[in-house]
Amino acid sequence: MRKLVHRPRRLRRSPALRNLVRETNLTPHDFILPLFVSEKIDKRRPIASMPGVSQLTVKEVVDEADKAHDAGIQAIILFGIPAKKDERASGAYAENGVIQKALRAIKKKCPDLIAITDVCLCEYMSHGHCGVTRMDGEHFHVLNDESVDLLVKTSLSHAKAGADMVAPSDMMDGRIGAIREALDMNGFSDTGIMSYAAKFASVFYGPFRDAAESPPKFGDRRTYQMDTANADEALREVALDVEEGADIIMIKPALPYLDILWRARERFGKPTAVYHVSGEYAMVKAAAEKKVFDERAAVLEIMTSIKRAGADIIVTYWARELMKWISA
Ligand code: PBG
Repeated sequence: MRKLVHRPRRLRRSPALRNLVRETNLTPHDFILPLFVSEKIDKRRPIASMPGVSQLTVKEVVDEADKAHDAGIQAIILFGIPAKKDERASGAYAENGVIQKALRAIKKKCPDLIAITDVCLCEYMSHGHCGVTRMDGEHFHVLNDESVDLLVKTSLSHAKAGADMVAPSDMMDGRIGAIREALDMNGFSDTGIMSYAAKFASVFYGPFRDAAESPPKFGDRRTYQMDTANADEALREVALDVEEGADIIMIKPALPYLDILWRARERFGKPTAVYHVSGEYAMVKAAAEKKVFDERAAVLEIMTSIKRAGADIIVTYWARELMKWISA
C-alpha cells in the first residue's frame, strides 16, 4: 500500500485519542433547565405530550430547583401558569403572581442558582396571544406598543422579585430597548436580558402550549413570530435586539434553525443561546420509546451538534439528565 502521510483515522483509533482532539465538549454551564410552575394545582401534574416534564406547585418548584442546582445545573428558566387569566394579563405582573412567589422562594433557598424568567403574556391572557389584542370585525390585531408596556411591567416585577435575567419571548417590536431602559431607571442595571431574538412560528411549540396552557383561542402567532423561510430577516431581528441592549440572544427552535444560529453567532459575536423546544423533545422521546434509537446517544448527538453550530447556551428539558450523561 502507498505510504500515506495524512491518515486522519490515526486520530480516531482510541477513545483517549478521540477525546484529545475533540473540538466540541459539553459542560454543565452550557445548559438551562425550563421549569413550569402553576397556581392551579396542589401537586405535580405530568404533561402528557412531554414525558418526564411536569407542572409544579410553588413549593415543588423550589425543591426541584434546589435539586437541579445540587446536580450541577447553573441556571433555570421559569414559566408560570396563573390561577386566573384576563384580557390585560394582570397575573404576569402581579406582586403576588405565581412567578413572583416562586422567584422569591427559589432565590431564598438557592441564591447562587441563576434564575431567568420567561417574559410573555400568552399564559396570562384569556385569549392566549402574546400581546394585547383588538378585534377588527373577523380579524384580530396584536397591539404592539400596548403589549410592550405590559411586558415592561412584567419584567420589572420579575426583577423586583429576584430574577437575575429576564427573557422576553413575545416578539413585539422594540421591547428589548423599552425593558432595558425601565430596568436601568429602576435600579436594576445588573439584571440581564436574554432575548428570544429570532423566534420562528413553529409547529414544534405544540407540546409547550399544553404545558403552559397557552394555545391561542383564535388566529395564530404568525403576525408576530417569524416565517420559517426567512434567514436574512431573522438576522435583522437579531441586530435590533443587539442594538437595543440584549445581553444574550436566543434562536428558537434549535435543529431546524442551525443555519440561523451559525450566522448570528458569526455576525454578532454575542453570547448566543438556543432553545431546543418541546416538540423537538417530544419527537426524540417518542422515537426512543419505540426503540428506534437510544435516548442518551441521540440527545448527546443533538446537543453536541447545537453547540458545534455556535451555541454558547442550550435551553433543554434534558438538562437534568445531561448533568449525569456528560460526566459519565
Ligand atoms: C411563550 C413561549 C413559547 C415557548 C417559549 N415561550 C410558546 C409559543 O411561543 O407559542 C415554546 C417553548 C417550547 O416549545 O418548548 N411565548
